[in-house]
Amino acid sequence: MKLVKTKDGSYTVFNEAASEHYHTISGAIEEAFEKHVNALGINNGMQILDFCFGIGYNSIAACKDHANLQITALENDKKIIEAMKDIEIPEILIKEFAHFRNIAESMDVTDNNNNRIQIFLGNALQIIDELSDSKFNRVFFDPFSPKKQPEMWSEEIFQKIYNKMKIGAKLSTYSCAKQIRKNMISVGFKVMDGPVVGRRSPATIAVKE
Ligand SMILES: C[S@@+](CC[C@H](N)C(=O)[O-])C[C@H]1O[C@@H](n2cnc3c(N)ncnc32)[C@H](O)[C@@H]1O
Repeated sequence: MKLVKTKDGSYTVFNEAASEHYHTISGAIEEAFEKHVNALGINNGMQILDFCFGIGYNSIAACKDHANLQITALENDKKIIEAMKDIEIPEILIKEFAHFRNIAESMDVTDNNNNRIQIFLGNALQIIDELSDSKFNRVFFDPFSPKKQPEMWSEEIFQKIYNKMKIGAKLSTYSCAKQIRKNMISVGFKVMDGPVVGRRSPATIAVKE
């Protein structure tokens, strides 16, 4: 597993099979906060779906300064979850990350603010069917790129995720590709630009109205 230091001082991982980094190299933890957590806004007690957990930055960034979150995380690679154990974390997330570093051992950890992350190990495309309808307030949608994993960005998957969200719930993702937004709109999402972070194009926010 190849660790790469990004420009905000946090590490990301390079995935050889996908030939992609897990995060933008302009700043991995900055991306978690800016494109996902702050872009959506998190309130205490929310139900969050982390669709592609990786090393958990999005979920753990959500836990910072929040309480009673219920996070359902989907990930199919146990090794990447195990890699959290030894990863060096910058000051901004060091305390929160410490609670969840060893999550690979139990796949279910609650921190001292009662934020719970529960990981379901397996194919997110199938596990999504097992989750309750109208459950989630927020979704962090973070697979590899549409080019590398077109099956993750299909109309069918957006429809399934849409069904799992409450009315008023919001989804964040880094891609603003035309076809991806079209797929989101065709299942009922209202789509808007997310923040511009680390590149020229915006991220995407999708809302279930
Ligand atoms: C871009 S990375 C996610 C980065 C992550 N959000 C983080 O903060 O570290 C994509 C992740 O999706 C996972 N993945 C790829 N295909 C998957 C699938 N079919 N089901 C579940 N996870 C999958 C990969 O193992 C990888 O960890």
